[in-house]
This record gives sequence, structure tokens and C-alpha cells, in this order.
Amino acid sequence: MTLDRRQLLLAASFAAPWWRRASCGGDGAVVESRTAPPAPGPSGGLCVGTRGPASAASIEGPPRPPLHPDALARWVDPLPVPAVRTPDGLRPDPHDPGRSIPYHRIAMRESEVRVHRDVPPTRVWTYDGTLPGPTLEVRSGKGLLVEWRNELPAAHFLPVDHGLCGAGPDRPDVRTAVDVHGARVPPESDGYPEDWYGPGGSALHHYPNRQDAATLWYHDHAIGIERLNQYAGLMGMYLVRDDFEDGLGLPSGSREVPLVLFDRMFDAKGQLLYPTSGAPDAPWVSEFYGDALLVNGKLYPYLEVEPRQHRLRVVNASNSRFYLLSLFRSGATVPMHVIGTDQGLLAAPAPLDSFTLAPAERADLLVDFGPAAGESVVLRNQSFELLQFRVKSGTRRSSPVPARLRPATKVAESTVVKTRTLTLNQYRDPKTSGMLMLLNATRWAEAVSESPALDSVEIWRLVNLTEDVHPIHLHLVRFQILDRQAFDADEYLISGAMNLRGDPAPPAPYEAGWKDTVRAEPGMITRIIVRFEGYAGRYVWHCHVLEHAANEMMRPFEVVG
Ligand code: C2O
Ligand code: CU
Repeated sequence: MTLDRRQLLLAASFAAPWWRRASCGGDGAVVESRTAPPAPGPSGGLCVGTRGPASAASIEGPPRPPLHPDALARWVDPLPVPAVRTPDGLRPDPHDPGRSIPYHRIAMRESEVRVHRDVPPTRVWTYDGTLPGPTLEVRSGKGLLVEWRNELPAAHFLPVDHGLCGAGPDRPDVRTAVDVHGARVPPESDGYPEDWYGPGGSALHHYPNRQDAATLWYHDHAIGIERLNQYAGLMGMYLVRDDFEDGLGLPSGSREVPLVLFDRMFDAKGQLLYPTSGAPDAPWVSEFYGDALLVNGKLYPYLEVEPRQHRLRVVNASNSRFYLLSLFRSGATVPMHVIGTDQGLLAAPAPLDSFTLAPAERADLLVDFGPAAGESVVLRNQSFELLQFRVKSGTRRSSPVPARLRPATKVAESTVVKTRTLTLNQYRDPKTSGMLMLLNATRWAEAVSESPALDSVEIWRLVNLTEDVHPIHLHLVRFQILDRQAFDADEYLISGAMNLRGDPAPPAPYEAGWKDTVRAEPGMITRIIVRFEGYAGRYVWHCHVLEHAANEMMRPFEVVG
């Protein structure tokens, strides 16, 4: 008899049940340590038990009649491009009070937006009233101060699960903490998930921006509800620019287009729907996939472009959805070049026809619309149409794709002082269908177990024992992907034996640059090499499937100075 992977996971998880319900944050509750599957992490759990019922229930129909995006007219709304925000003034630089740096005061507030011409206004939560929020644009090495102000209502309009770690009934439903994803930032300005504040509260963050030009983005990170806050609309772009990048003469102005991608579900009145498990006291669902795929907050928008080269800066801001992006013109693929990843420019452009973008990953693209003069080009996710480029007719002006971008500096494996093996886990309770997802079998509230020394180099081996791809993100740092190696996960779950299969595969050229989020594939060991530079202090690493992160696929790490 052969067991499928799911049965094996069940069997392995429940050979030795090791969690039980306890209060979040620890009240002395002790959890049995686990014997199988093998876990190098510490035992002793805090926080709640599993959530349930699990994912299958999440697919059930929403209680309000849904909107069917397929029925909407395509290409009737122009693509909105979020405005670059003008600072509200200057303030002394906290690191150098003799100097002044730009200061922004950004309010989170409830607003209404139009996602489509034929859809009534949608209630959303925004930064500054727009979805996405305003773009923050900074120069590398030049600091920025942002006062993030929570001016949201006191009640959440999405289903808060009070049983999740950090979201207990003793806490306000509406809590926020802002993270600039990918920023090298002191810990007190990182938007640590526990550093939340409710309506009327605020936080002043200092972003020194001592990092290369890159496509960053900001979003909510409050523990236990970040998936709902981001779903409600709390996100925006943060672009770091520098002289090196300027020197490349890449397309700019109207030929540089930010594209923030996220999926949603709407009811017939245009209001956001977020599924629940069906259990009133445990509404958490294990992932979210909406049938409405928006670009910069619009459904099926169009953008008029010159028959010239353009730079597209793409962010996957979805809760759970992975995209397979490509461009089409009258049925044929339009070639593109990836010039940058999460943390900036590649060494050389990577030509391709399509590529995968996991939640929180970014891609910086060059596309030449010259050959499509007078026609239209459509951006697709697999076969779903997302955005139409209307290419003007007229003289096409071609600009070559630069042969070289930012010189690559490979982090040498000889400099590694520590290699950590960290498992990605998923547990199910067959009785309740409850679920729990963890990093290295360790719950959020357990003691810090990853404490790299400041400026040291480590390899992290992410051993994925689950059936899902998990986009793993480390705060503060940038890293390089070394390789992905297949192994026999079933055997490992049963006996603890690590049987490798085949040879390790290097990353695809388009993900071979500086990253801050990496796809850890099921049945693979994904190795990344990281220098922990910048600042000492407490940060987090987590899966960027937001539903997973909320159910404890998130852990602190501490850079020790
Ligand atoms: Cu984009 Cu910790 O997140
Ligand atoms: Cu995950």
C-alpha cells in the first residue's frame, strides 16, 4: 500500500502529538516535546493550539453573492499610477542631528476606491487614501523619517481570528505596524509585529536607506492580523534609487511603471469578501485566492505606452497567490528582460518569456513595445488577462538593453561561520482538521533560536517538509540563493533519514541576484547565503503567504552586535 504525501504528513504529525491548547504568550503551559518528525528546534510551546477547520472549508462560498469579474468589461479604466509622495517637511536626522532629512506624516484611514468603472465604490483601508498608497521614493544613503499614524476605525471589517497567536481578545481588533519590506533599518523602525498600535496611535520610523537601489514596498505587519490589514489595502511602493542605477540610463518618467499585483474577492455590491473556515471562533483559513486580479488597484486596466522600451517594476502584494507572468501580442509571446530582483539590479539582464513571482517577490523588467507599435500587448497571469498596454503608433525608438548591470559580488561560501538547517512544517489534527504551520517546529513565542553575529555570514538550509511552496522572507538583510536540492521528504518524516536526490540546482538567472524572499519548494532543501549586516537587534523571518505567517510560520531572529 502506498500512502500519499498528505497521509504521510498526517501520520508523521500525529505519531506524537506535541501541542495542546495553551494561552498565547505563555502562562506556564508546557507542551510535550515531539519525537517525530525530527526537529532540531527547542520544545516547549506557547500560544494557542491548532486552527481549524482547515483549508478545504475556506473554499466554500461566501455568504454574500459574489461579483464575477469575468462578466466585467475589459480595458475601460486607465491604469492608476500611485503618486510619488511629497514630504511634509524636514526634521533632524536621528543619526546626525546637525542634518535635516525629509519627513512624512502618513495616515492609515478608511476610504472608498473604484476598482472598475462598473463596480460600486469599495471600502478599503489605505495609506493616505489611495490603494496602493503613495510611492515613497528615496536616494540610497539619504535618510527618511515617516510618522505612520493609525486613523482607522475601532472595528475591523474583516474576520479577526482571536485564537491566533497575538490576536487574542485582550487586544484591540484594529492594530497596525508598518514594515518597509526589504529595508535595511534599525530594529525599532522595522515594524516588529508586536510593536503595534491601535487607532489614535502612531510610530515614528527612521529609514537610513543605506542600501542599493531596489524595488521595496511597505505594508502592514501587526501580529495575527497582517493578512487582513494588507487585504484591506494597507500597502504601497518604496523605491530606493542611486547614482549607479542612474548611470545606466534606464527608462524613466512615464516609461517607468510600477505594477502592484494583488487578488481579491468582491460581493455584488463591490465590497471585499474574505473567506472564513465556517467555525465562528476560528475563522482563519490557510490561504486566500481571489478571482479578481487587480493591477495598482484596478480590474482589467489599460495603459497607453510609447512604442519604446519601458521599465516595469512589479510587486506581488497578494496574500497567497503566486503569479506566472508573461506578455502577449496577437497570440505570440513578447520577450522581456528581468534586470532586477527583490534587492536591486542583476549582474546582467535575464531574457525570458515568463517568470514566477511569489508573494512579496519583486521583478524589475525591461520591455520593448517598439515591435508592437499600433497594437496592444496584454500582461497575463497564466491565461488570465491582467493589464492591456495600448502601444501608440508612430516612430519606434529602440534603446538597447544594457549588457551589464550592477557587478555581481558572490558571497563566498568560505566566509560562512555557521550553517543552520531549518525545517518548514505543517501539522494537521485529523479529528478537528485543525492546522498549524511552523518554522523549524518552533512556535512564535518561544525563545529566539537564530542569533547570528553582526556582519557574520551564514548559510540557511530551508528544508521544506510540506506540500506547499513557501516564500521565505528575512527582514533586514539581502541574500543570495545558492541552490535547491531535492530530497525524500516522506522518508525524512518517517525515519529522519535525509536521502538527497539528484544534484543541487542553481537558481534561475532571473533570481540569481540579491534577494530578500526566496521560494522554498516542497521536497527541496533551499540554501541561501546571508551576511547579517546593518544593525544589531530583533527582527523576524517568516513565510510571506500571509495566512501561513498568521498561523505561526513566523519567528524572531536576533542579530547580536
Ligand atoms: Cu513583507 Cu515581514 O514582510
Ligand atoms: Cu508558507
